[in-house]
Amino acid sequence: MKKLKIKYLTALIFLLNSCTSDSFSPITAPTTDFSFTRHILPLLNAYRCKSCHYNSFTSPDLTDANAYKSLTTGTTYVNISAPSSSIFYQSVSDPDFSPFQMPDGIKLTEAEQATILEWIKQGAKP
Ligand code: HEC
Repeated sequence: MKKLKIKYLTALIFLLNSCTSDSFSPITAPTTDFSFTRHILPLLNAYRCKSCHYNSFTSPDLTDANAYKSLTTGTTYVNISAPSSSIFYQSVSDPDFSPFQMPDGIKLTEAEQATILEWIKQGAKP
């Protein structure tokens, strides 16, 4: 009986110890390094932006191969010195942006809009 208790105690100590050494880290604000390929392009595809924005039909060209370049060339669509004035961000966050944009009340969620803004703030990395 006594032997069994010691076994449990040893197991418990082992368990607590493994918590403190490995999986226990100080609480910090969640940080994500946003990247165009991992976070932004999937959004553009989910909302079918490229169904209207391709080649020179409607700029910016938001097809997979050209979207990053067309958004980050110049400072109109993406402006890292004034992120919220970026036309790309406004196009997905301002309900009055354009009557032709995103028909039938389809719009990005607030979290998705925040992702785009944060991506720009972090320097609009590929
Ligand atoms: C149904 C077609 C359609 C879809 C889908 C669409 N757009 Fe547009 N978008 C347009 C049109 C048309 C304009 C031009 C509006 C104008 O000039 O008033 C425009 C304008 C824009 C502009 C501003 C262009 C400029 O030069 O000022 C941006 C940025 C933009 N769209 C981004 C997006 C993004 C991002 C998505 C997907 C989340 C999207 N669009 C989905 C049709 C669309």
